[in-house]
Amino acid sequence: MTRTATDPSWFTRSRLGLFVHWGIYSLAARHEWVKTRERITEADYQPYFDHFDPDLYDPRQWARDAKAAGMEYAVITTKHHDGFCLFETDLTHYKAPNTPAGRDLIRPFVEACRAEGLKIGFYYSLIDWHHPDYTIDGHHPRRDDMEARALDHERDMSRYRDYLHGQVRELMTNYGQIDVLWLDFSYSWRDWGWSKGKGKDDWDAERLLDMVRDLHPNILVNNRSEVPQDFHTPEQYQPRAWMHVDGKPVMWEACQTLNGSWGYDRDNLDWKSPGLLIRMLVDGVSKGGNLLLNVGPTARGEFDPRARATLASIGSWMHHHSRSIRGCTQAPEEFVTPPDCRYTWNPATGRLYVHLFAWPFRHLFLDGLGDRVAYAQFLHDGSEVRRTEYEDAGHFPTARADAAVLALPIQPPAGVEVPVIEVFLHPE
Ligand code: GLC
Repeated sequence: MTRTATDPSWFTRSRLGLFVHWGIYSLAARHEWVKTRERITEADYQPYFDHFDPDLYDPRQWARDAKAAGMEYAVITTKHHDGFCLFETDLTHYKAPNTPAGRDLIRPFVEACRAEGLKIGFYYSLIDWHHPDYTIDGHHPRRDDMEARALDHERDMSRYRDYLHGQVRELMTNYGQIDVLWLDFSYSWRDWGWSKGKGKDDWDAERLLDMVRDLHPNILVNNRSEVPQDFHTPEQYQPRAWMHVDGKPVMWEACQTLNGSWGYDRDNLDWKSPGLLIRMLVDGVSKGGNLLLNVGPTARGEFDPRARATLASIGSWMHHHSRSIRGCTQAPEEFVTPPDCRYTWNPATGRLYVHLFAWPFRHLFLDGLGDRVAYAQFLHDGSEVRRTEYEDAGHFPTARADAAVLALPIQPPAGVEVPVIEVFLHPE
């Protein structure tokens, strides 16, 4: 019987978290998959290990930036697919303490998050392109190296499994309360002919998760070990509706990048605008989901200025609008969302939030809510948004008779990326 978190309510209440992808690939600065994309050998990858010296690392600043952006939790890569560990571990030498960094970099991160009141998540890669027992498959950097492939039978996944379980145990015991475990990823459905993908049997995921639950009964775990757990993780796309599995709504968290790469990617200019990211956040909440937004810090340990500026813009929007995000979810099904809008809904207060993705001319029609609207205001400044009374509705022969019609100014509120109207409803 699979156990899941006993109380996941903090997660769905918070809605917005920070993802951090940091490792020695940050020195290459061309995507966290660089080792396998470029088929880099251990020897040629070693300079990134030897030169990892994040002298400007200040996790308190990261945590403050996250908090100011309105985020309430942060998930960091303790180990990525390249096998490099940011934490102190007894099980490998391939770790930050043995680089010029000279120390465990996860502990100060955990302390910084705690000091700023952020919940803490550990990303841990199930995949490992450094471990000598991890067999070579179609994702592996050595996949075209016929000599290495010929020796693949000497690799022993059961030894890798012990290592993986041992490291997850270290992470689950050495850092106090951990709120999220973000495992990445399974691909047992892949078949390259000469090799197959890996999945829950390769990880012995059932036993792994049992151990995790014994240590942290209320931790939230994602679905990527192939054992159903607490939440689903759509990646780099926005679900069209609340995610369902076997006909039932599930908890979900979209993970998104700022520019298409998770690790720091110096020359990548595909930066999403703050407005787009805010609309993605709103869109997710309107479908009952969270957003885990990623920053790839630089090799010296800082958030790139473009990332900081984006977080600051999101923060200035959240400063006025967190009420339409936190504690909110999809509106009741019978509510008809106006064109170019997203509804979110706070079930505890019964308030409805109308997010305007485009600015209409003068009138906003809330179909079906004619009898329900008690009061409406802009969220950014608390200024009243007046109703156009029903007598005037003759002006709107095309409107539904049961619509509440709100009167909008010609100009959208200045400097507000996504304007929001907070609607107080009479109870039904
Ligand atoms: C993918 C990628 C990985 C990234 C992750 C984040 O699975 O392999 O690089 O860390 O998604 O969701």
